Amino acid sequence: MTADFEKDFIKWEKRFELGIPVIDAQHKRLVALCNDLYLTIVRNKYRAMQPEWQEAFSDALRATVDYITTHFSDEEKLLSAVGYAELDSQKSQHRAFTAQIARTLKTFHQTTFQDAIEFVKFLYNWILHHIAVSDKQYVSAVLEFCRRNGA
Ligand SMILES: [Fe+2]
Repeated sequence: MTADFEKDFIKWEKRFELGIPVIDAQHKRLVALCNDLYLTIVRNKYRAMQPEWQEAFSDALRATVDYITTHFSDEEKLLSAVGYAELDSQKSQHRAFTAQIARTLKTFHQTTFQDAIEFVKFLYNWILHHIAVSDKQYVSAVLEFCRRNGA
């Protein structure tokens, strides 16, 4: 039996899907990486601030950040290819988020257990907002492009 805190932080739901398979798969992976990060933090709670905890936290955090960077780059390439009118706005949101995460990466060695949990919450909220609000806005442009080009 697993303890309550061993459960995923959030479950991927069908309603998060945008209907663009390549993007949906990446968003799903992002949520999975956030769950890994959360589980790494709670499993190592009693070693918080010790070298092993910092190592586990920084490895999970880097894996998440690397994938976020990949996702943003792929998303921007796709939106540029379809000629999405709000591409610049998407790009600046991506840049602001990446900068915020970079600040956390720089100071992870001082991160307490509570800070780490707050950071995961921030990550989830941002990602879910990103999917449900900002990404939703480009769906019709991408699908319309695919329809016109028989993709
Ligand atoms: Fe996205």
